[in-house]
Amino acid sequence: MRIIRTTRGLQTWRRRQDGPRLSIGFVPTMGALHDGHRSLIRRARRSCRTVVVSVFVNPLQFGPAEAYRRYPRDPSGDLELCREERVDAVFLPASDTLYPPSFQTTVTVTALSRRWEGAHRPAHFQGVTTIVTKLLNLVRPTRTFFGQKDYQQFVVIRQLVRDLDLPTALTLCPTVRDADGFALSSRARRLTAAQRQRACVLHRALLAGKAAIAGGARRSRPVETRMAARVNRDPPDGVDYLACCDARTLEPLARLRGTVLLLGAIRVGAVRCIDNLIVRIR
Ligand code: PAF
Repeated sequence: MRIIRTTRGLQTWRRRQDGPRLSIGFVPTMGALHDGHRSLIRRARRSCRTVVVSVFVNPLQFGPAEAYRRYPRDPSGDLELCREERVDAVFLPASDTLYPPSFQTTVTVTALSRRWEGAHRPAHFQGVTTIVTKLLNLVRPTRTFFGQKDYQQFVVIRQLVRDLDLPTALTLCPTVRDADGFALSSRARRLTAAQRQRACVLHRALLAGKAAIAGGARRSRPVETRMAARVNRDPPDGVDYLACCDARTLEPLARLRGTVLLLGAIRVGAVRCIDNLIVRIR
């Protein structure tokens, strides 16, 4: 496995991969890798000859500097997981490698970035789309893999790739959950066992919304009321949103039809947890 720390090193390695059988699968991450990332890497391995993982905690996508400093980091554990999964190359740059002092360009997907997570974390998606553009330019992957847990991120990046004609295909992979339904996330490393238990309420609320739809609800209001009621039975430390929207446009829906996204964000202690479910209505 190659460990590459500079952009020049990555570009040189990448040029050597060019050839008739080129097929590069890319899994961009912020490290503190878990079984959700492992499943993305395995998915990439199934469809691509060469697999690249990036591990970079991107300062641009955090609000207060505090949150960036507190984000979990585990570079040796990350390299071990990548070795176990026979990853071909890991890009592990230092922050000033990607953002030298002279850095001044950002990339913004306008409307899609304002909703949901964007409303609670201003500039978050601008940070994501800027770093993803840089990483896609450096790695030039055939296919790039993202997890459904960050569904809005996927929709924003899909728009970015379309709008800027970036030559990669995108694959959305299912959320990996613990036995109790909790969606695996690097941030969850910062939850105590008791907080981790409490955080489960988010998935339970989304399931309550899904059950309401299965029971015949065809308007958002009763579904959202059902999700709120479930959360209020075991209230977390804050609820940022619990809603239904169109899975393609992320616009709120009054009447439910087509492919509906149930999505939510709660806070437990100092940790924000997000999750979603996709429900198809016939
Ligand atoms: O999903 C993540 O881990 C990050 O937002 C990403 C896509 C690696 C960009 O920093």
